[in-house]
Amino acid sequence: MRSAVATAIAVAALLAAAPAAAQDVAKGEKAFAKCRACHTLEKGGANRVGPNLHGMFGRTAGQAEGFKFSDAMKNSGVVWTPETVDQYITRPRDFIKGNRMAFAGIANEQERKDLIAYLQQATQ
Ligand code: HEC
Repeated sequence: MRSAVATAIAVAALLAAAPAAAQDVAKGEKAFAKCRACHTLEKGGANRVGPNLHGMFGRTAGQAEGFKFSDAMKNSGVVWTPETVDQYITRPRDFIKGNRMAFAGIANEQERKDLIAYLQQATQ
């Protein structure tokens, strides 16, 4: 119970921390084309090459149900927030050494911010 409350508070803080005007969700949805081959976002969506990302914000890395993560991801101890997702998708290989996501990264900061804003909406 306590942890459920703590999680709810953490998620509320994450959502409040994102200034709406600075990101463009529609552009973020377009940027998601880079992820779509491997990830679904909706509740109960399929795992593909990568895990379904529903509910990822506020969750520890490597916990999505029914997906076989690398040990590197499971043991990373990373909690997904807009900040950690930003660091991860900038250069996945460097942020969690040895993880298996075969994606080079997104260099453009605004594109990452738009994408994260979209993910925050689409994974709830
Ligand atoms: C080629 C397939 C592929 C692409 C493209 C890809 N991913 Fe991934 N993703 C993976 C795999 C595989 C994992 C699991 C890695 C592991 O277990 O080491 C993963 C893991 C993740 C995780 C961690 C999930 C969790 O529950 O811990 C996030 C977040 C994520 N990807 C976001 C993205 C985003 C955002 C994009 C687009 C910018 C993207 N991925 C593009 C394959 C992909």
